[in-house]
Amino acid sequence: LLTGPDGRPLLGRKAVVTAGPTFEAIDPVRGLTNRSSGKQGYAIASALATLGAEVTLVSGPTGLPVPVGVSRIDVESALEMKAATEAALPADIAVLSAAVADWRIDTISGGKIKKGPGGPPTLALIENPDILAGIAAPGPNRPALVIGFAAETTELEANARAKLSRKGCDWIVGNDVSDDVFGSDGNAVLLVTRDGTESWPRQPKTAIARQLAARIADHFNAISL
Ligand code: CTP
Ligand code: CA
Repeated sequence: LLTGPDGRPLLGRKAVVTAGPTFEAIDPVRGLTNRSSGKQGYAIASALATLGAEVTLVSGPTGLPVPVGVSRIDVESALEMKAATEAALPADIAVLSAAVADWRIDTISGGKIKKGPGGPPTLALIENPDILAGIAAPGPNRPALVIGFAAETTELEANARAKLSRKGCDWIVGNDVSDDVFGSDGNAVLLVTRDGTESWPRQPKTAIARQLAARIADHFNAISL
């Protein structure tokens, strides 16, 4: 492993990491969200900073403390996350681990929606933009290494590989979310690249993060040789 001047292999590299859920408001007191804890993304931000990268963490609501050596930007909705992620570019590395809500409420009610004789409200949803696909699209600001996640309950490898090509990113970390991942400290993942698939056995999310950060450092050292 090659290292930078102070022994840290990612010194001088910029990284943007997204983590946590998004929260899509329905009205001033309610919203749509999901079960992402943010722990895996926070651990990745921390591991990249430990290797010397300058890390911006764009985070949905998690309640987690800011990792040492990381700058955090707090967001709520997918649209806010997209804007903050793009504002963090240019960067060498993007790791988009957030569980972005796929849909938002079309028209957020300015006041609290009340019960009434008309029965329950109908909530019209519209699809959120795909932050990962936008960051991975060719262009002057595209990070050299764009890594996405795939949260799946079935056919993990096939679905992760389909996301790799659909979104145009370089690597996908495939996550089986059917058993005990959300909020847990452990995780088992597949690393899916154009060169093949690796299976990383269940281990602490901090260990997955260190392994991924080391792989990222190896990648940059290999291409700069
Ligand atoms: N993602 C994103 N913006 C979205 C939705 C997803 O950037 N609006 C990113 C996630 O951060 C993750 C990857 O895309 O890195 C895959 O997210 P996932 O929810 O697994 O895939 P989707 O494309 O949303 O497909 P589906 O939920 O239908 O499986
Ligand atoms: Ca999704």
